Amino acid sequence: MPAPPTVQVYTEKPALFAAAAELIQQQIAHALRRSARAILVLTGGNTPIGLYELLASPAYRDQIAWQQVWVLWGDERNVPLDDAASNAGMAMHTLLHHVPIPPAQVLPMITTPAADLATTAAAYQQQVQAVLAGGSGLLDVLLLGMGADGHVASLFPGHAALDLPAEVLVTAISDAPKPPPQRITLTLPALNRAALVLLLVTGGDKAAAVAHALHGIAGEPLPAARVQPPHGRVVWLLDEAAADQIAGSSTAPATG
Ligand code: 6PG
Repeated sequence: MPAPPTVQVYTEKPALFAAAAELIQQQIAHALRRSARAILVLTGGNTPIGLYELLASPAYRDQIAWQQVWVLWGDERNVPLDDAASNAGMAMHTLLHHVPIPPAQVLPMITTPAADLATTAAAYQQQVQAVLAGGSGLLDVLLLGMGADGHVASLFPGHAALDLPAEVLVTAISDAPKPPPQRITLTLPALNRAALVLLLVTGGDKAAAVAHALHGIAGEPLPAARVQPPHGRVVWLLDEAAADQIAGSSTAPATG
């Protein structure tokens, strides 16, 4: 039975990002005590930008053994890498071009000019499996944002991609309610291969989904609530607005 998630609430985003960066640094160091590589899975969206910029700052750039880190993505939109909407492009601009990580260890989901996203998804699955095989078999750090509807990566409520067989780790979708509709995403079996999941959620528009995900309100569990890694743990890092509807939430002391 997976451990219940940890919930940490912060008054200010800088404190949330500092806590996330600390957890990432610690988990990567933990992973490298057991394996020659640490696998970091990045999320897209706007929430993590401040975290990526912090990780690229001297405080963390010099504290993380980037030479032994391998980077995957949780999902990608069907846009070119240089498109402003590209999750990989955003992470490269804010983080990966500023740390000494070997380019061969940065594996974006190259969605264009793919003729067929399903083929691209299958190819990315091969890459994910190869990266996992070279490490501990777990995704050491998995970063996720969450939409106001409770989606994580590009796994949206009620979508068939939520119920694929365990052997499917990556899939293409063509009808995402969040534009653009065409995306590639890790599936729940892949997300649940995580050792540490950091769910970074800010903003009052997400408060209802946070409460639904954490308090297991009757009905279909939200995609975010289905990230329950059997060999890992989940930490929700929320600002006060996103935590507004969860009972007993207390603001974590600022760290760092
Ligand atoms: C994407 C993201 C998606 C994102 C959430 C939250 O490709 O859109 O991976 O899962 O994390 O939609 O997005 P914001 O951080 O911008 O609110």
